[in-house]
Amino acid sequence: MELIEKALAKARAEAPKTNTEGAAPAVPPSSPQQPVHSDLAAISYSRTAVSGDAADVWVRNRLVAHLSDHNADLFRILRAKILQPMRENGWRTLAVVGATAGVGKSTMAANIALSIALDANQTVLLVDADLRKPRVASYFGLQVQKGLGDYLSGQATVEEVLVNPGVERLVILPSCGSYSNSTELLGSRKMSELVQELRSRYESRIVMFDLPPLLASGDALSFLPQFDCALLVVENGGNTAVELQEARRLLQKTNLLGWVLNKADAGMGGYYYRHYYGDKR
Ligand SMILES: Nc1ncnc2c1ncn2[C@@H]1O[C@H](COP(=O)(O)OP(=O)(O)OP(=O)(O)O)[C@@H](O)[C@H]1O
Ligand SMILES: [Mg+2]
Repeated sequence: MELIEKALAKARAEAPKTNTEGAAPAVPPSSPQQPVHSDLAAISYSRTAVSGDAADVWVRNRLVAHLSDHNADLFRILRAKILQPMRENGWRTLAVVGATAGVGKSTMAANIALSIALDANQTVLLVDADLRKPRVASYFGLQVQKGLGDYLSGQATVEEVLVNPGVERLVILPSCGSYSNSTELLGSRKMSELVQELRSRYESRIVMFDLPPLLASGDALSFLPQFDCALLVVENGGNTAVELQEARRLLQKTNLLGWVLNKADAGMGGYYYRHYYGDKR
């Protein structure tokens, strides 16, 4: 597991610089000809084809936490509300969950990770733990050949799958493809050892997991107990009361930070995030 430490340290050291105040836009890699400066960069850029203008891709995929606009402000507020209880309790692993498919879990996880990475005191690792419908890499405009499933099935090392999307302090452990044995892989000892390993390395690092829908399969449930805390994403008008009750029941033994109402005001540019947070009822 030394490889994880090595690769992450290099990711922090070598990633392109961004404004540490989080006020200015981050600069995502915009060209496949990005110079290669280190082993991690070689891993990241030789194994991913970053095509076109990644900044456009991000915004098209509703990654907006790095911009200087109202949405980014909302993510800064949400970031503070997430980090405060995590710091107080010494929690470092955060699962982003939702009752059903398509509520915005991956989009929310990616934006929160971006926002945290723009906080000068914090590094963040975002793990795409949806082995059936992975989206994190594509939302960042990254084309990856290997991911978490390859690691869990012994086809790749962690170092081979970690990717830096071009933001200092942000590393992604992506997934790709689709695994019919995803429940077994996510519930495996290798997965729980990975979570513990990622958690225990650096005090300043938050490890986030984008999880599959709670109610769709056993995937999320198989490793939910391992996370320090969770954030529940609820889609405005997209989840029934019964679904939410069931999700809450499944999260009973999890430290639920709160819930976020996503797609609250779709009329406002198509991606307006209104965050209601901290109410666990
Ligand atoms: N605030 C928002 N406003 C409008 N559209 C949104 C918003 N958040 C996410 N979306 C869109 O909703 C769709 C689903 O988002 P996303 O992939 O994040 O959901 P998910 O819960 O991770 O889905 P899945 O369960 O399939 O993994 C995407 O097209 C995304 O761009
Ligand atoms: Mg998703």
